Amino acid sequence: MITSSVRSVVRNKALRASGPGDGWMKGEADGTVDRWMTGGTGQRDGRREGCSGRVRSFNEIPHTGRNGWINLLHFWRNGTFSHLHKHMELNFNTLGPIYRQYLGSQCSVNILFPVDIAELFHSEGPNPRRMTLQPWDTHRETRKHSKGVFLKNGIEWRSDRLLLNREVMLSSAVRRFLPLLNEVAQDFSRVLQRKVHAEGKREKDAHILTFDPSPELFRFALEASCHVLYGERIGLFSSEPSQESERFIWAVEQMLNTTSPLLYVPRSLLRFHRPLWTQHVTAWDHIFSHAEERIQHVYERLQARGGSVEGPAESSQFPGVLRLLMERGELPLELIRANITELMAGGVDTTAVPLQFALFELARNPDVQERVRAQVQSSWLRAEGNPQKALQGAPLLKGTVKETLRLYPVGITVQRYPVRDIVLQNYHIPAGTLVQVCLYPLGRSQDVFQDPLIFDPSRWAVAEAGEGRGRNVTKETGSGAGFRSLAFGFGARQCVGRRIAENEMQLVLLHILKNFRLSVSSKEELSTKYTLILQPESPPMITFSTLTH
Ligand code: HEM
Repeated sequence: MITSSVRSVVRNKALRASGPGDGWMKGEADGTVDRWMTGGTGQRDGRREGCSGRVRSFNEIPHTGRNGWINLLHFWRNGTFSHLHKHMELNFNTLGPIYRQYLGSQCSVNILFPVDIAELFHSEGPNPRRMTLQPWDTHRETRKHSKGVFLKNGIEWRSDRLLLNREVMLSSAVRRFLPLLNEVAQDFSRVLQRKVHAEGKREKDAHILTFDPSPELFRFALEASCHVLYGERIGLFSSEPSQESERFIWAVEQMLNTTSPLLYVPRSLLRFHRPLWTQHVTAWDHIFSHAEERIQHVYERLQARGGSVEGPAESSQFPGVLRLLMERGELPLELIRANITELMAGGVDTTAVPLQFALFELARNPDVQERVRAQVQSSWLRAEGNPQKALQGAPLLKGTVKETLRLYPVGITVQRYPVRDIVLQNYHIPAGTLVQVCLYPLGRSQDVFQDPLIFDPSRWAVAEAGEGRGRNVTKETGSGAGFRSLAFGFGARQCVGRRIAENEMQLVLLHILKNFRLSVSSKEELSTKYTLILQPESPPMITFSTLTH
């Protein structure tokens, strides 16, 4: 465990570093401010100094071994990549709240305390950069495909990103696509009902079925993304869903699985790393050709209508992100294609997998489940079918998603290269150093969360209402206190699919909780593995019991 002296250094530092108020910071970290999305940099004036006393040098930061190639060899030999999240947690427990990790040719500084995270994000600059996913980048260059926002940097990234924000991040856009997500979520719940009635056993008034819902959740996530991106349903809930879509889901999984072992292989050696590299490229090629087919379809329909979508862009019917981008004509078709393909690839596993974890946690915490359901039911009644009102009236649903991502962050790190020298934990970090915020150990740290292993969606409601600091909330105070919920990243470079993902997940949970009671046979922890995203080692079996209304 981290020693008490380290804790007190951290807390004192946090107190000294108090910023202009928690509310300001919380808004930033939660990304609730449209300001980020329209081009404001959010940079704060006046930088703070490091701790008093001598600032220690970069070379004094504890590390896990300086030879990156030997470390990489150990990683491969011991299968560490698939347990990278646990490996990081162990390193923090043994080395303290900051350490250096050398892997292959790469060195990163790993951190987990909110006060350090705040400092890092305040020095990310106007065009923040993440670690490049070399295998993805090399695929694009080999195939001569344009890059979307995920892989771009600098002002090129910024100009594409601002155009995308307008269609998927601004509150006005969210209001328009929410009914589409609600429609898919409602249909999905009907599919589950049909399945449980047809295959389940009957007990009193209820039908009961135990199964692994993950294949259905993957179909749901793809159907929901396509509805928002293309403005049309692709029929994945029909009795015979298209094999093409099933192959797309498979290809995304294959692409993710093959990314992490290739991540630290130098670019020049990637092509020699067969058969992994071949599998990776084939998976990407499939993702591109699937997206291309859909884009072509929408393009042809648009041409047939003389270049305009049915009705003006401001009409209440959301025509889909692709058609809006095409109609506006501000982004060249090549870049629309690159970005839509990235949104497709980024939009399936990232939501389907946390939904497995959310169902599991609700199922093994029946009291929590009842509290969330009670709120959902009364909010749904009051909202009279308006999904936005229904979500606003059920903050515990939002808490459920946040709590799920705290314990099971899809991406286990968020990375940045600070644009100026900074001081973290009293160590000097030169500008341009790769710094990783380690979300898995952060979410499970006793120094940051009270009773971290308890699944409690209400801890976020308390934090948002600004009450009870020190109760269910972080023990920290000061500038870092808002930097605890970072599963979608931060600021201008945060996840561009965030609003789609949050609403999609909340709506599907809403309809499931309205119609089913969930349970599991064992309350044991789920084992997890890392394959670029964090997943259950094997998908949990959930018992669905129908509720009578
Ligand atoms: C629970 C679901 C999701 C989580 C936890 C998640 C998480 C993340 C994170 C941590 C980042 C990096 C942010 C940063 O560096 O600050 C990111 C970026 C990104 N995500 Fe997501 N994501 C999710 C869902 C989605 C969805 C549904 C889509 C597409 C519809 C998507 C598309 C993207 C793209 C394109 C980027 C790159 C943005 C940029 O660099 O400008 N994500 N996501």
